[in-house]
Amino acid sequence: MVIQVCVGSSCHLKGSQDIVELLQKAIENHHLENEITLVGTLCIGRCNRIGVSIQVDDDVYVGITKENFNDFFTENVLKKLEKDN
Ligand code: FES
Repeated sequence: MVIQVCVGSSCHLKGSQDIVELLQKAIENHHLENEITLVGTLCIGRCNRIGVSIQVDDDVYVGITKENFNDFFTENVLKKLEKDN
């Protein structure tokens, strides 16, 4: 699975760096280093009023914040990995 975190200027201002750190920690905690490739990307054209845009394989999610990060990770990363395996 490839997770691309938008680090374009709009998302950067809305906390991309925090989200990257949360993702790194979550990947480590769940021992998913071999399953997930984490990369930064420039604007993916889905700038949102709040939060950061993240692309998980072909799916784009917008509005990711520190507050909703855990829900995002459980729903769109952990569950998807389970399904794919
Ligand atoms: S800067 Fe992130 S979607 Fe545009």
